[in-house]
Amino acid sequence: MLKNRVAVVILFLLIALPATLLAAQLDFFRHVPTPAENPQTPEKIELGKKLFFDRRLSGDGTMSCATCHVPEQAFTDGLEISMSYPTTKNWRNTPTLLNVAFYKSFFFDGRAATLEEQALFPVMSAFEMNKNLDYLEEHLKSVPAYVAEFKKVFGGEITKPRIAMALAAFQRSLVSMNAPLDKFLKGDKNALSPDAKKGYELFTGKAGCIRCHNGVLLSDSIFHGLNVPENPSFANDPDIAATRRFVAKVYHFDDYKNLNEDPGRFLVTNNKQDWRAFRTPTLRNIALTAPYMHNGVFKTLDEVIDFLNKGGGEGNKVLKPLGLTGEEKKYLKTFLVEALTGETLKIKYPEVP
Ligand code: HEC
Ligand code: HEC
Repeated sequence: MLKNRVAVVILFLLIALPATLLAAQLDFFRHVPTPAENPQTPEKIELGKKLFFDRRLSGDGTMSCATCHVPEQAFTDGLEISMSYPTTKNWRNTPTLLNVAFYKSFFFDGRAATLEEQALFPVMSAFEMNKNLDYLEEHLKSVPAYVAEFKKVFGGEITKPRIAMALAAFQRSLVSMNAPLDKFLKGDKNALSPDAKKGYELFTGKAGCIRCHNGVLLSDSIFHGLNVPENPSFANDPDIAATRRFVAKVYHFDDYKNLNEDPGRFLVTNNKQDWRAFRTPTLRNIALTAPYMHNGVFKTLDEVIDFLNKGGGEGNKVLKPLGLTGEEKKYLKTFLVEALTGETLKIKYPEVP
């Protein structure tokens, strides 16, 4: 009888264990996903880079994409809540653009399906660059160097979709891999220090991080409601409240006037399950991209790990307390800090025409 039971358990482990491991794995970099409609060429990437650094893309000429996505800061700005167009306030943290091509949707709430679609949002956003897109098209047409470059790259004139395509191509070139974890996964067992290795075991085992942080990005590109608290530093900021109401109104949120928290994915799907759910962020280069979460509420990785160890925010349905000891939390942090930082990209600033 007992023997039978043991046999059943072993059989179960043999079948179920590899299946769950297959479902959630870490992976190393092979190639950058690129849509057939917008193939990468060196000239297109270079044009996209110029646009990325060009302050003409903002209404008052003070901001380029690189103002918030600073190359030397892993394409973030180090702020809890991102910078914004003068006199307005942003409401979310600036995510890194390193390895951004690997996501399946873009923004914390996934409201853009492709990098091409994403690229024009910040340009027209009232609280980011605030530039009218039709005007941008004409504005760039008055710069002979751009007219010539668009002709060379796209075989035609400057259009909004082509501006977006060039920006997307540049961002797809921002690949920072070959982190110690990649070397480790390829078989170099010494690529991680003994403490980082213990952290890796926790990450993929007891702490269950790999459930959501998996694949080549260490993100499943799915939305989860961890109930991350609102950032108390901005709880009473009237300008942020205005931005929140504005976005909710644009997304037809009925009660936008009384909204005092970030609805997350709900704004896109209108599905109750998505209330305050955000896309799992990549953990690559996580040591370089503090502060953390969609609203920058946690300044350190210790704060993030403590939050997860206690089972996430009040009332959430996706996390359970982990019961990690002080030592285990230390190993987990060592893994995040030591194993996930990829090669540094040397970005040579372009000459904007
Ligand atoms: C004023 C600061 C600011 C500027 C300027 C800005 N961004 Fe961002 N960017 C942000 C913030 C904040 C988010 C997150 C917004 C959200 O999720 O709702 C973001 C998100 C993104 C994302 C999505 C990343 C992801 O993980 O899904 C991409 C791609 C991006 N920006 C590219 C650009 C490009 C290209 C430009 C220039 C055309 C630009 N940004 C200009 C602040 C800025
Ligand atoms: C149920 C899915 C899920 C699990 C399990 C999970 N995470 Fe996350 N993680 C997320 C989501 C979603 C966010 C973004 C939340 C937000 O912005 O409000 C996040 C954010 C983070 C961040 C901040 C990233 C940034 O750029 O701001 C870190 C660090 C992190 N998680 C580490 C871990 C670790 C370590 C574990 C295991 C102890 C873990 N996560 C388990 C889904 C998960």
